[in-house]
Amino acid sequence: MSVLILGATSRIAQRLAHVYAADGESVFLGARDGEDAARVAADVAIRHGVPTDAAAFDATDFDGHPAFVAAVEEALGPIDVAIVAFGDMGDQEASQGDFAAARRVLEVNFTGAASICEALAAVMEPRGRGAIVGVGSVAGDRGRQSNYFYGSAKGGFALYLQGLRNRLYKRGVQVLTVKPGFVDTRMTFGLQTGIPIADPDDAAQAIHDAQRGGADTLYYPRFWGGIMGVIKAIPERVFKRLSL
Ligand SMILES: NC(=O)c1ccc[n+]([C@@H]2O[C@H](COP(=O)([O-])OP(=O)(O)OC[C@H]3O[C@@H](n4cnc5c(N)ncnc54)[C@H](OP(=O)(O)O)[C@@H]3O)[C@@H](O)[C@H]2O)c1
Repeated sequence: MSVLILGATSRIAQRLAHVYAADGESVFLGARDGEDAARVAADVAIRHGVPTDAAAFDATDFDGHPAFVAAVEEALGPIDVAIVAFGDMGDQEASQGDFAAARRVLEVNFTGAASICEALAAVMEPRGRGAIVGVGSVAGDRGRQSNYFYGSAKGGFALYLQGLRNRLYKRGVQVLTVKPGFVDTRMTFGLQTGIPIADPDDAAQAIHDAQRGGADTLYYPRFWGGIMGVIKAIPERVFKRLSL
C-alpha cells in the first residue's frame, strides 16, 4: 500500500505522513521544493522503517500532473491513498487590487487541486480501488469579504469533490472532503480569535481515521460543522450587512 501526500511542507501534511507510515504504508511526498519533500521523506523513513520517496510538485503545473502521478506509481507502486493537502490563502486585500494575486489563489486551491485529482482518478477508476482526500476549508462554505478568493476556490473544490465522489463511488474509489477550521500552522500564524485553534497532530489523526473509516466529509474540529451550519443559515439580506 502506498500513500501520496501533496503539500509536504505543511505541518498537517507532515503529520499525516507519520500517521500513515505508522500503519506500515509506503509514503511519497510532493512539495514545491523537492529538497524539502526529500527531507520530510527521509525523516519518515528513519522513524518508521517504511519505503519513502519524494519529488518536486507544483499545483499550477497542470500539464505535468499525469506524468507526476505516473512517476509516483513507478517509484512506490499503485497509489492507494492520495492526500491533496496544499493550499494558498493569499492576501485578500492585495488580491482585490491585483488580479494576478487573486488568480494564483484560484489556480492553486481550485484549478490545481482539481487537475491533480483528475490525474489520480484516471489511475484509480480503472483499478476499482483507492482513496482521494481533498483538504478544503470551512472558508468555502460561505463567501465573506475578508477571504472570498480563497473561500470561493475552496468552495469550488468542495463541489468538485462532491461530483468526483458521485462519479467514483460506483467504481470503488473513496473521495473524502476535509473542511478544517482553525489549525495551528503557518497559515494561521499570529491569528487572534476566541475560537480554539486545533493541533495539527490531532487534525492529521482525525483525517487518517475518517479516511480509514470510509467517510465522505469531515469538519475538523467537528464543532465547525455546527458553526458553519449557523453561518450558512443567516439570510443573505442580513449577511451582506455584516463585516466578516
Ligand atoms: N491552518 C488552518 O487553519 C487551515 C484551515 C482551513 C484549511 N486549511 C488547509 O489545510 C491545508 C494545509 O495547510 P496548512 O494549514 O498546513 O498551511 P501551510 O503550512 O501554509 O501549508 C500550505 C501548503 O501548500 C503548499 N503550496 C502552496 N502553493 C503551492 C503550489 N503552487 N504547489 C504546491 N504546493 C503549494 C505550501 O508549500 P510551500 O511550502 O512551497 O509554500 C505548503 O506545503 C491547506 O489546503 C489549507 O488551505 C488550513
